[in-house]
Amino acid sequence: RPVRKWLAKDRVTFGRQLALRLARLGRRWQLIASKRMPEASGDIRQIAGQPVFVPLYSLAQTYGPIFRLCFGPKRFVVVSDPAITRHLLASHAANYSKGILSEILDFVMGKGLIPADGEIWQTRRRAIVPSLHKRYIASMIGMFGRCNLKGLSLLEESAGAGQAVEMENYFSRLTLDIIGKAVFNYEFDSLRHEDPVIQAVYTVLREAEYRSTAFVPYWRLPLASSLVPRQQRCKEALKTINTTLDGLVAKCRRLVDQEDDEFEEEFLSQEDPSILHFLLASGDQISSKQLRDDLMTLLIAGHETTAAVLTWTVYCLVLNPQYMPRLQEEVDRVIGDGIPTLENVKELAFTTRVINEGMRMYPQPPVLIRRALKDDVLGGYEVKEGDDIFISVWNLHRSPRLWHQPDVFDPERFNVKGPIPNETTENYRYLPFGGGRRKCIGDQFALFEAVVSLAMLVRRFTFSIGPEAPPVSMTTGATIHTKQGLYVTLTKRSTP
Ligand code: HEM
Repeated sequence: RPVRKWLAKDRVTFGRQLALRLARLGRRWQLIASKRMPEASGDIRQIAGQPVFVPLYSLAQTYGPIFRLCFGPKRFVVVSDPAITRHLLASHAANYSKGILSEILDFVMGKGLIPADGEIWQTRRRAIVPSLHKRYIASMIGMFGRCNLKGLSLLEESAGAGQAVEMENYFSRLTLDIIGKAVFNYEFDSLRHEDPVIQAVYTVLREAEYRSTAFVPYWRLPLASSLVPRQQRCKEALKTINTTLDGLVAKCRRLVDQEDDEFEEEFLSQEDPSILHFLLASGDQISSKQLRDDLMTLLIAGHETTAAVLTWTVYCLVLNPQYMPRLQEEVDRVIGDGIPTLENVKELAFTTRVINEGMRMYPQPPVLIRRALKDDVLGGYEVKEGDDIFISVWNLHRSPRLWHQPDVFDPERFNVKGPIPNETTENYRYLPFGGGRRKCIGDQFALFEAVVSLAMLVRRFTFSIGPEAPPVSMTTGATIHTKQGLYVTLTKRSTP
């Protein structure tokens, strides 16, 4: 019996080892057998001056769902395929880092959640995600409504005076006011006034976008921050923001020290329901530099993304006014002139589909960036450790292989009675908030914010673009901007 037992045990071990060897061999064969990835090469001037995702779209039509783009010394793998995207973001996410993005954003976000990788990212994600709990989101919806009321009263003045309104600028200020309150309980009040802190935020944002599209990283040269006027302004702006953040952290710490509310899972202070308050009250032991990095990351991540979604959705509606009656009927019925509640927002199913479709047509950001941490096989082709990868969300969202009439704005393509579309329901052909472990942590916050803002706007106005308005075209940094603004003529509705 002992001999039989020994033989059985040994057979299992031997079987396991054989399976492991075969798997390794299979992987090597897969690598060796992998074909050469299609390669697009050319002069960098061919793509300079246009938003980078535009040439990537036509290149993908020629070279397919995965190809290598070589411009001089720069080489990128461009991905426009749902299955490969799932591999990169979800099933093999641990093999990929944020790569160039961390290098570009270091000056402003440091080791904040978006650029961070590895252990720091894991620890910070674990600390921050719980702050966006259900009670927090519900309390934010009232704040979205109050900020919108302020903005709408300004729009009413412009509409009364017959002036066209530049909606991109309007949404940028509205969402800055909202994210300031939500993240660190700061009243930017940027809709109504200018101040050095607001100026500083925009200087830093523009610098981050400039760095992400510039071809020569001259700011890395020694003394660039003291000698180049643009870099001097950026350094000054960062100083202003850091001083303001330090002041807000100190104020919030005093509040936390005074209060005797016990910290619990869905902690929410009535006086200051911000994310900063949650983090300090939770006893999260982090350096003041890391806390500043986290706050800056949330401010930037949550600001212009939502503004861009609202800008381009309004643009889609201006071009497709046939959807306005259904949208306005829903808003009139569900919220009327009031400020929406969480229950109302959930009832605004068609309004939500309009935003979902706006995000399909104009994804923010249009391209996601990764770097391979080890050799891998993507779609049958070998990628090497260190390869930089662009996942073109724009190409996925606009692919004629994946969508019926992809260039047509049609909110009804998503079932209004079905679940809210996302990367899972749409099998990675649609990923407005990314996917896998690096998925956006503010997805629900942002969707509700966009729905409330659009609903309150269409309740009061219909819109059109006058003949004298500049043409609307795209330019890009981190998000898609308009080149010359989105000038819209607002007409006040006589609402029921
Ligand atoms: C990540 C989109 C609003 C915080 C992301 C990613 C996308 C995205 C696509 C994934 C990036 C990647 O995989 O490389 C959007 C859009 C928004 C929005 C379209 C508005 C409509 C917000 C808001 C917040 C936020 C309001 C904060 C309150 C973040 C953070 C990450 C992130 C911290 C990084 C998560 C991580 O890497 O662990 N966002 N976002 N976002 N977003 Fe958002």
